Amino acid sequence: MAVLVGGHFVAWDFWFSGAPHLLLQSRSVPQDSSSPLLVLIGFMGAGKSTVGRFLAQQLACPLIDLDTEIARTHGSIPDLFSSRGESGFRAVEHHHLNLILPRLPRPSVLALGGGAFLQPANRELLAHHYATTVFLDAPFEVLRARIADTAHLRPLVRDPDRLRELFDQRRPTYLLANHTFDASAPDPAGLLTSLVQLANQLGVLAPTRDKL
Ligand code: S3P
Repeated sequence: MAVLVGGHFVAWDFWFSGAPHLLLQSRSVPQDSSSPLLVLIGFMGAGKSTVGRFLAQQLACPLIDLDTEIARTHGSIPDLFSSRGESGFRAVEHHHLNLILPRLPRPSVLALGGGAFLQPANRELLAHHYATTVFLDAPFEVLRARIADTAHLRPLVRDPDRLRELFDQRRPTYLLANHTFDASAPDPAGLLTSLVQLANQLGVLAPTRDKL
């Protein structure tokens, strides 16, 4: 059952069954099988790759990092930005997402780069593959501090004015994700617990400790 809270559909059972306090918003998503593909989205520095790695470990399922896959084929992301520009990078990003999605086992965790969800064609691909999108949300100042020293890895961090603008432009689109979690705490343990709970709700059974 779902209820409308603040203009958003919120899974009722989820809120009232010891709901994780870091879950800010939740909508139900059509599933094609009992095991979901969990796709982590959000701004640079939200923790998509780091939290994704821990989450995949906890669920004993694969983690696929889209930028890592792109870099495997095309070289580093900054080099790709230099050689093809941002629009060239976006084309490569879309191409790889399209390649990867049909091949992913279920369950698995997919971490997207911060701009991937902004492309309508990518959102269509994700919906087409019944992905469960999870937005890791945090205030701009928290994210800015986390990524301040990463301009050599993240070309978009080089322009601080544009960074703030990007955050403001992007956040409403990130909020279209199926679930939104507060990712502002420096220690990801609480977030991880909440994400594992979500995965359990969606039918992923965490393995018992002796299988880890
Ligand atoms: C980008 C985020 C980066 C990477 C590229 C562009 C963006 O990934 O895809 O530098 O547009 O926000 P992370 O979000 O993992 O830093």
